[in-house]
Amino acid sequence: MLKSLLIALVLSCSLCAMAQSNVDGYWEYRVPNGGVTFFSFKQSGEAVSGLNEDRKLPYTGTLKDQELHLTADTKSHGEPFTITLDGVRRSADEFSATMVTPAVRPHETFKIEGVLRRVDRDAVYPVRLPLPPLQDQPDNGLVRTPPMGWNSWNHYHDHFDDATVRQMADAMVSSGMAAAGYKYIIVDEGWSSSRDANGNIAGNARFPDMKALADYVHSKGLKIGIYTSPGAQVCGGYQGSYGHEIEDAKTFADWGYDYLKYDWCGARRIYQRTPVDLQGAYQKMSQALAKTGRPIIYSLCEYGWGDVWKWGAKSGGNLWRTTGDISDHWDSMDHIGFAQLDITQYAGPGHWNDPDMLEVGNGGMTTEEYLTHMSLWALLRAPLIAGNDLRTMSDETKSILMNSEVIAIDQDSAALPVQRTPPQGTSEVLVRPLANEAVAVGLFNRGSAPAEISFRWDSLHLQEYLGGKQLEARDLWKHEDIPVTGDTYTATVPPHGAVLVRVAVKPYDM
Ligand code: GLA
Repeated sequence: MLKSLLIALVLSCSLCAMAQSNVDGYWEYRVPNGGVTFFSFKQSGEAVSGLNEDRKLPYTGTLKDQELHLTADTKSHGEPFTITLDGVRRSADEFSATMVTPAVRPHETFKIEGVLRRVDRDAVYPVRLPLPPLQDQPDNGLVRTPPMGWNSWNHYHDHFDDATVRQMADAMVSSGMAAAGYKYIIVDEGWSSSRDANGNIAGNARFPDMKALADYVHSKGLKIGIYTSPGAQVCGGYQGSYGHEIEDAKTFADWGYDYLKYDWCGARRIYQRTPVDLQGAYQKMSQALAKTGRPIIYSLCEYGWGDVWKWGAKSGGNLWRTTGDISDHWDSMDHIGFAQLDITQYAGPGHWNDPDMLEVGNGGMTTEEYLTHMSLWALLRAPLIAGNDLRTMSDETKSILMNSEVIAIDQDSAALPVQRTPPQGTSEVLVRPLANEAVAVGLFNRGSAPAEISFRWDSLHLQEYLGGKQLEARDLWKHEDIPVTGDTYTATVPPHGAVLVRVAVKPYDM
């Protein structure tokens, strides 16, 4: 009797505590496999306003009868999208919750169940640790030509697993991509869960053995890359390396990783976007990588902030993202690609501008647009990191990604920057001097009607090498020689299309 009275009392007290306590404060939304999103909530009666603390995205909604309903307006693939976060309260400090967010492909949604739990402010905004004094880092001697490989993000976001990565390594070899020069299989966000009892970073249930995965990729004759952040969490909330940079670099080296993409994201909640913080945080990991003694390509990902191309090499970077994220749309690719032309002089052997990964084969652009994408990236000397499903490539996708003559432009040993001639409306002519008395010329039609685009043979400055010899020219997409006649070459370029030509001094016929 007394016992049931006590139970009733305890129950009613926890219910009354739950009913009385409002949701003001910080909350984490944690999903299986380790992703965390941080929110702050403010309650007024039944009305609740919230903020996604990573993206600073405002939420509005209600808490009625211990059910939470919040929405946030955002965009997905250029169209309006409403994110929902619905929870049922389990205690004063916990809800079981479901979130519906945009998925990787247009018009698809992703629904995931997790737990919304009240946390201290420190969990969201960790106490700041000191950064090293800025100091130029030595060149690690890697990537004398732009790195080539595959990365999981563009096709999968974080919805992938160990088996997918292994299959991608298999397909990299069986499709001919490896023979064409693609070498790095890069595991982007989604592999990490939390830290083990010793503070070591660990893979989540989808990535149970990161060392075994590296061994498998190596057994295919390939190299493997991994992803983390100077923040405590990476973008989608998986474990980051904040405060554990040295241990994590050592772990990655012990597991056998050859490439690290280090993405700012969660670092926003710790550091400022100042030169000292950006450079200090990237330098810290560069020093940690150097300490491991393993050659590890270091890829900086902070979206071009603080003109990273001016200091990325000094902070130890082998490549650095120069822009926000690419998406599988003409506007995104066109904007990013042509914006690179202002900073081409900052790239060179060992340190490359990275205008983001390829979208070729993901289905959001036309063939002509993908030809432009690949031609432009090759002329820019961009890293060629495929972002499509290598297991199911169409012949057309293969012919774009594996065009050896186009890849040779990207990888050309002279590594000289591309030059832009003044655009004529939406027509662009880009010229890049190559090794061995040759030049690559890209004719780009950024407009929506076919365009005649020309260049003069003598504008390529190859005459000085001629000495009685002839020029030869080749259309690298048609795989056809072009007769060098008259003063100019003119091509009819389809809307959003490109023609890529290699012109060279013809060796004497033997
Ligand atoms: C950022 C990067 C992307 C990808 C995602 C993962 O947006 O720029 O390339 O790594 O994070 O969340």
